[in-house]
Amino acid sequence: TSTPIGVKPIMGFNNWARFTCAAQARLDGTRTGYSFQQFMQDQAKAMKDTGLVAAGYTNLTVDDCWMQRTSAGYLHGAATWGGSSQPGFDWELTDYSNYVHSQGMETGLYSTSGVNTCQGVPGGVLGHEQADANSLAYWGIDSLKLDNCGTTTSNRQQVFTTMANALKTATANTSRKILFNESAPAGYGPTSSEKYNSLDWVRTLGQMWRVSPDIAVWHGDSASAWSWPHGGDYYEGGVLQNLNDTVALARYDGPGNHNDADMLLIGDNNQLSLAEQRSQFALWSAMGSPLMISSDIRKLAADPTTYAAQLAILKNSDIIAVDQDSLGAGGYLASRDNSSVSAGVDVVVKPLAGGRRAVAVLNKNAASINYTLDLARLGFGNTTCTRTARNLWTHTNLSVQSTISTTIASHDTAMFTVDPGSCGAPIAVGQLQAPQS
Ligand code: GLA
Repeated sequence: TSTPIGVKPIMGFNNWARFTCAAQARLDGTRTGYSFQQFMQDQAKAMKDTGLVAAGYTNLTVDDCWMQRTSAGYLHGAATWGGSSQPGFDWELTDYSNYVHSQGMETGLYSTSGVNTCQGVPGGVLGHEQADANSLAYWGIDSLKLDNCGTTTSNRQQVFTTMANALKTATANTSRKILFNESAPAGYGPTSSEKYNSLDWVRTLGQMWRVSPDIAVWHGDSASAWSWPHGGDYYEGGVLQNLNDTVALARYDGPGNHNDADMLLIGDNNQLSLAEQRSQFALWSAMGSPLMISSDIRKLAADPTTYAAQLAILKNSDIIAVDQDSLGAGGYLASRDNSSVSAGVDVVVKPLAGGRRAVAVLNKNAASINYTLDLARLGFGNTTCTRTARNLWTHTNLSVQSTISTTIASHDTAMFTVDPGSCGAPIAVGQLQAPQS
């Protein structure tokens, strides 16, 4: 028997949105002799030094471009920095995972279901599924993110199934299992039937899956492509697009089954205001999404005073507890009073264990508002009974009956939990999936 993995949404670090494949320097600006492996190890150390590991962020995933394949077909680390022409050093994957484990974290690697990754690196698993799974197990890797590039609607299910089985075979006699993180649903259009059909098989194979576009991709330190509702193409969704796509799929969430709304743009230089960073955190938790930070954690570790507000958001234990709640429910859209991304209020509700409910109230308007939240929207019917609500930003409890009144700054999100106490359970919602692993 083995302990199930991925029962709760994973939390951790992924380098992609903030760094892509671009060669990186040390914090002092020098890069001679600085390898991709060392860069990731420095982020792992920073995750520990900032207290983010202690707060629960224990997965460290390196995304595209870390790999190469030898002419004999073996997967190994890239000898150039991130697939670029800049010289680097081949990874020592066993040393790497040992180091990451020594910082209290688990290791995640990226691959794709075709031959070439989304950045054109010929390291995808197609035709090498079992050999690659065996390599991951040998190196002590804890999770695999498998992307869509190189497969199509017709063979994607087959490659993902083969890989899920290969990971199980490779770890059959070991105590360390490999979490399977699938990008498959995001490879279909946001509202396409193929996406909904794919969720039927995707949820039987892995523990988490992307359901929305890439949240954003770094376009240089002063670019604005990280923006809040991203005005551009489908592949750069922005916070509001990914909220929209994920909240529609709450019924697929359950213990060991997690819709992934993509990475958190919280930390250094991500072009989101602090209010927008609070909103992303509150909304991702209210949806039960994995919480993977894409930010330069080395900077947060070197200067925790400058980044105190960002670290406080990421370490908010009340909000983390909502994300990690043992019921494993997704968040659903209880109301949206304006379909615009720049006006109105969205209310997202997540059922919690013990009949409790969490609620995130997003103010999309350009100005601050006074808002009265009707508890009937959370499913609490008896309006004369006194319940305890908790403000998850101020960490204070309040007694409430039928409403909670609150002021919400522009683009900010208020967040509460409500405990039914002796008032009776709220109206049931949805159906939770059974654990698959
Ligand atoms: C796709 C994925 C991203 C990232 C890149 C890497 O776009 O959705 O999360 O993995 O590929 O190339």
